[in-house]
Amino acid sequence: MPRRAKAKAPIRRIGAEPLTTMIARLLEHAGAGPRRALVCARHLVGANLAGHDSHGVGMAPAYLRWIAEGWMVPEAHLIITSDRPAVLVVDGAYGLGPAVAAEAMALVIDRARTFGVACLALKNTCHIGRIGAYGEQCADAGLVSMHFVNVVGPDPAVAPFGGRQPRMLTNPYCCAVPRPDGDHVVLDFATSAVAIGKLAMALKTGTPAPEGVLVDAEGEPTTDPAAFFTSGARGHLLPFGLHKGGGLQIIVELLGGALAGHLTMQPASPRRGLATLNNMMSVIIDPDAFGDCQAYEAEAEAMLAYIRSTPPLAGHAAVLAPGDPERITRAERSANGIPIDARTWSDITKAAAALGIHDLPE
Ligand SMILES: NC(=O)c1ccc[n+]([C@@H]2O[C@H](COP(=O)([O-])OP(=O)(O)OC[C@H]3O[C@@H](n4cnc5c(N)ncnc54)[C@H](O)[C@@H]3O)[C@@H](O)[C@H]2O)c1
Repeated sequence: MPRRAKAKAPIRRIGAEPLTTMIARLLEHAGAGPRRALVCARHLVGANLAGHDSHGVGMAPAYLRWIAEGWMVPEAHLIITSDRPAVLVVDGAYGLGPAVAAEAMALVIDRARTFGVACLALKNTCHIGRIGAYGEQCADAGLVSMHFVNVVGPDPAVAPFGGRQPRMLTNPYCCAVPRPDGDHVVLDFATSAVAIGKLAMALKTGTPAPEGVLVDAEGEPTTDPAAFFTSGARGHLLPFGLHKGGGLQIIVELLGGALAGHLTMQPASPRRGLATLNNMMSVIIDPDAFGDCQAYEAEAEAMLAYIRSTPPLAGHAAVLAPGDPERITRAERSANGIPIDARTWSDITKAAAALGIHDLPE
């Protein structure tokens, strides 16, 4: 029998700019330089704007805790450990994940422009947040990109397809295709049936998890997010899309984890409590290298228009392309502010108080 979730908590709305300033200030107090603190704060607020609250400012207290515990080193700079013309291997040196990943991506974007294609292997990087942001960074530069990101640190929490025990974490995958008008196609998701951050948001806001994504410690289906967060014997997530999603989950572990990071979730790999590391393998392609870029763009635009013209099924307002939902939410939240639930706000103000900052609004 699925357990019932708690009642919904109240929500406040805060503008993107003041929220960014506030989060950057917290990161600076914790030891980050002003520029990196701002890049990281913009990334987190950008996730909220895109509608992915699981990877938004609610992560800031975790980042501050990891800094205090020494897992995340706010002033660390990335190190290039291998530099072939079209393959760059970068050690994130446990720096501020979103800032380090954006810097590494900028380096490899230049290489892709020069060589037509380039690969980035990014390792030893603290949590890098919403992977779609890096797809957008490449797409804004006119480049196609694919990103395979494994997750290590915590104990496994996602079972492989058909398995009764967890072996991996949420292993996100992203593919982004640029469009001339800037409304890029950005497919970006966890290969678990839902991201852990979304379960945490469900727990914070008293919302049940969707059906079919979670099992409890006995392997029984449940929609209660608390089943996942209890200490001791706890539930775990399933991969999305049966054997197909389960297959992609394993490919991501092998490319992001084994190939780029030399660090997977196999049992000999070190665990770091809840402090999360990401390893990322990115492939970046310049469409110009394929010749006749105008023909490509015209064909892609015609196909997207054809796809969007599909009459929607009942329950769907319209047929969308990946990236459209984030754009719609971004427009709404840019206009009306970002909704922050009471638990997230309380976590942020507590983290601020621990840094000696007591002037955040109640
Ligand atoms: N850094 C990490 O360790 C880590 C781990 C897991 C997830 N994440 C991030 O968490 C975020 C959320 O992941 P998720 O699995 O919850 O994503 P999700 O299930 O919300 O799926 C998002 C993707 O589906 C597309 N989409 C959604 N509805 C659509 C529709 N109706 N039509 C067409 N496309 C549609 C979106 O445009 C987007 O590309 C992602 O940004 C991911 O990168 C990060």
